[in-house]
Amino acid sequence: MLIDTHVHLNSTEFKDNVDEVINRALDQDVNIMIVVGFDHKTNLKAIELAERYPFLYATVGYHPTEAKTITEQDFVLLQEQLQHKKVVGIGECGLDFYWDKEHVTEQVQVFKRHIELSLELDKPLVIHMRDASEATFNVLKEYKGLKGIMHSYSGSAEMVSQFIELGLLISLGGPVTFKNGHKPKQVALVVPLDKLLIETDSPYLSPHPFRGKTNEPARVTLVAEEIAKIKQVSFEKIAQETTNNALHLFRI
Ligand code: NI
Repeated sequence: MLIDTHVHLNSTEFKDNVDEVINRALDQDVNIMIVVGFDHKTNLKAIELAERYPFLYATVGYHPTEAKTITEQDFVLLQEQLQHKKVVGIGECGLDFYWDKEHVTEQVQVFKRHIELSLELDKPLVIHMRDASEATFNVLKEYKGLKGIMHSYSGSAEMVSQFIELGLLISLGGPVTFKNGHKPKQVALVVPLDKLLIETDSPYLSPHPFRGKTNEPARVTLVAEEIAKIKQVSFEKIAQETTNNALHLFRI
């Protein structure tokens, strides 16, 4: 069994074929999927999907590129949604200086509110970090007792241990399979098995040989296969360890 810890079945790309996509995942033994919200619409849709299918769970949060529009009222709503029994995490949230360099202050503020809610409600964070490794680490290190995921981790292999020391797990996806994916391959090598998760980030980041195509959760198998090769362990070992880590973190 495999768990795709980060999938956007709530995005418009899947509005006409979500059942087919889910069935192809189940056929590949991908038996649990975490549907990650990133704005108002997709948070609601994630909850709706998690209510409809027993093997889907939701997370809710505001993506850093949304930060400039987020108000205190939005966090009241988020807090309500986090009471739902199938909402198992907070995010995705974090810092993204690739898509938005203009609103660093707002991004940091909104990220901190997610972190505080995570600690208060004891639900894990789903952290998005793009072109912002140092800044993300500097925000996180101000807190104790963190729980969560560095989703589609794009930082250096050297920084892996720093994030792990903060209490976070490292999740790898499609880029680890790319021919030029030297950085994530190095990361795969150094992440201890008890700190590793796998994901697709569908519909984005499709693994080799489907790079550039619409991704789907069935392909998390390709991520697990590549990591198994890099770490020179069996596919089953990767499947078992990452599944246990995800079940434990999300308390499923
Ligand atoms: Ni995502």
